[in-house]
Amino acid sequence: MLAALLCLPLALAVEPGTGDFEPWLRQLWEKPRTQALDLRVAKGLGAKGYEKARVSVVAPKLLSFPDFNFTYRKQFRYRWTDNYLHSSLIDLQPGKNTLTIAGQSIQVDLPAETEGIRAVFWSDPCFSSKWIHCAYADKFQTFPRSIAMLNAIYADPSMDMFAILGDNFYDQTGELAKTIFDQLSPDVKRRFLFVVNGNHDNWVCGSPGCGDMADNFGIGQMQYYTSDPVASNMWLQNDEDFMDFSIDPEVRKDYKTWQNVGTNFLVYHKLGNIGFLGFSGAALFSDMLPYFSEACDYFEREQPAVVFLLGHWNSKGMGCGTGMSVPAVRKELLALTSCSTLGNRLKYMDGHEHCNYVQDNKTEPVGFMIGAHGMDDSACEAQYGFLYLDSTDARVRLYYFEVQSESGGDKYDDLLKCVSTGGLSACTSMAQKWLDVPAEPGTSPVVRSNVQWV
Ligand SMILES: *[C@@H]1O[C@H](CO)[C@@H](O)[C@H](O)[C@H]1NC(C)=O
Ligand SMILES: *[C@@H]1O[C@H](CO)[C@@H](O)[C@H](O)[C@H]1NC(C)=O
Repeated sequence: MLAALLCLPLALAVEPGTGDFEPWLRQLWEKPRTQALDLRVAKGLGAKGYEKARVSVVAPKLLSFPDFNFTYRKQFRYRWTDNYLHSSLIDLQPGKNTLTIAGQSIQVDLPAETEGIRAVFWSDPCFSSKWIHCAYADKFQTFPRSIAMLNAIYADPSMDMFAILGDNFYDQTGELAKTIFDQLSPDVKRRFLFVVNGNHDNWVCGSPGCGDMADNFGIGQMQYYTSDPVASNMWLQNDEDFMDFSIDPEVRKDYKTWQNVGTNFLVYHKLGNIGFLGFSGAALFSDMLPYFSEACDYFEREQPAVVFLLGHWNSKGMGCGTGMSVPAVRKELLALTSCSTLGNRLKYMDGHEHCNYVQDNKTEPVGFMIGAHGMDDSACEAQYGFLYLDSTDARVRLYYFEVQSESGGDKYDDLLKCVSTGGLSACTSMAQKWLDVPAEPGTSPVVRSNVQWV
């Protein structure tokens, strides 16, 4: 315990948890669980083609689905093993797709390649203080309010994607993830999900130095928040066996370093007119460089209006590899020939610091910190909010919705009412506009003389 305390830098002000689940959580768990399919939809890796998507179902036992061909059907490996994963890479058509899984009809909408999209981003969300003290769980009523707001937002048919940028509920065992996912509506789950790995997802205490054998290393997480990562395209894996399980933490027993593989978290693709590149800062930059280059080559070919680099750590330390903070990776990507042409069109979002603000705005806004969603931080006042991306109408806009803060007061009821009536896009007057640029596809990439074929 003392060791754990010493490992937590004071700057981030996270305090250890109580070691117990809250009585209200135990009461909630005694109620019958939802019978709805625990569905995940993720965009396929960009290199595989725009129309690929990974569709998955997480369940408490192995199920057979006579009406859907899941090519991966396995118990979770190494961590969160009370879950079973069913997954398949499928082809979608731009527009409306109707899937039938276990007799349930599920609509998945794939925006056309140049179409605008709408997405919501959280980072560092918390509602329980079992593992780490969730300072504002009660003050902002994060559990009921985050769920109700998300379900209201995704009742709007125009929403496309939901992302969480790490420290996903400060959860070592998967019980907290399951608790919140049980409350999310089918309309949230049929949208594209994008979940990033953060320090508390690897070592629940927050740092490798205080890691122990019960820690997750992102292993349960990568199965629970299923994506289609670069690992699926590498030797020994394929579209069926799409994750790299070569590191078994119980074989290595090296709990104070990262027991996972960066390619399980390296994800890049396009959704509509926007590119996304996600990664884990716990990986080594040198190991990830070939795949960052691959992603840059993809974006150079595809020319999305804007590319968002999605990571967790805003600075080094606490398990973040050298050069792997999100601002550092952006800089390193811009030094690669294929990404250099993106310039300010390469933007980023991160968390780790529990504040919400425009993090980089030298020539135009490029960096966005969205880490205040329940946790406290000595660097800012109490804040609770989320980012909304809207790249429709030939603009790329980011709106920061501050649901509640010390200085801004409580907008929850008004915002929920507005969202329930007309969707988030009708409520942007309640938000701060952090970005508003034309959604122009990039100009033709500069052809460098040293790579020109004659
Ligand atoms: C399921 O998908 C796999 C991989 O695409 C394919 O090889 C197999 O034939 C399919 N099975 C059925 C029953 O469609
Ligand atoms: C970015 O900086 C410019 C110039 O200082 C300023 O006018 C603008 O309001 C800033 N944008 C945001 C979202 O902070």
